[in-house]
Amino acid sequence: MEIIIAPTYEEMSQISAQFIAREIKRKHDLVLGLATGDTPIGTYKELARLHNEEGLDFSKITTFNLDEYIGLPPLNKNSYNYFMQDNLFKYINVNQANVYVPQGNTEDPEEFCEWYEAQIKRVGGIDLQILGIGGDGHIGFNEPGSSFASRTRVKALERQTIEDNARFFDREEDVPRFAITMGVGTIIESKKILLIANGAKKARIVAEFIEGPVTCQITATALQLHTHATVILDETAASKLKRKVYYNWVRNNKHIIQKMVGR
Ligand code: GLP
Repeated sequence: MEIIIAPTYEEMSQISAQFIAREIKRKHDLVLGLATGDTPIGTYKELARLHNEEGLDFSKITTFNLDEYIGLPPLNKNSYNYFMQDNLFKYINVNQANVYVPQGNTEDPEEFCEWYEAQIKRVGGIDLQILGIGGDGHIGFNEPGSSFASRTRVKALERQTIEDNARFFDREEDVPRFAITMGVGTIIESKKILLIANGAKKARIVAEFIEGPVTCQITATALQLHTHATVILDETAASKLKRKVYYNWVRNNKHIIQKMVGR
């Protein structure tokens, strides 16, 4: 994993938006996996700015969101469908026909999950998947204990996740107990992965997932097994990492390595 530590949330967001923009410029019909939560809001704002001010073109990309709460229709303000429209899609020129977000109010979740997997396969897989990380180390809604081989499916949410996400709802009882989520297996098949995290409350889990042992109890550790995973952190989320000096040295001296391999 390549670890990039930015001084602030704003800079973390700029670096990750630049990372995504580079991939879109390289491949105009990029298949982009998207995440929700507070963490990527700054990145999405910056992508919208790059579209408005620098003409970054999203018209040919396809997007797949990681997850959605079961029971919430797309127009519900707490649904991830709504979140995506509100924080990104309405600001860019993405073709809505190429936007996929799991449907929380589907009548047959199991059949829907199979269909979702088939759509990802049909477009040739995800080129770049954006991830945040939950307080218990989950990616998507892959709670502790999720198999690294898991595919898109219905998952029951952990107590900690319900409590963490209660801030978006009027009452904790309103937080759905189940979600549709891409599996860990689905996520790690993406050609590239970019995980972003910020804030002191993520520092412990960030250190565990980057420097601790690989375990299904912290599903983000699956990224240690990926060949093209990048993690972008702000200073506070990186504060408990033991090998910070090394990550910074590698980042600052990347040009030497690139020169050595002729790139
Ligand atoms: C939710 C989402 C995750 C997200 C996590 C962290 O549980 N399912 O995809 O990464 O929250 O959210 P935040 O960025 O708000 O900390």
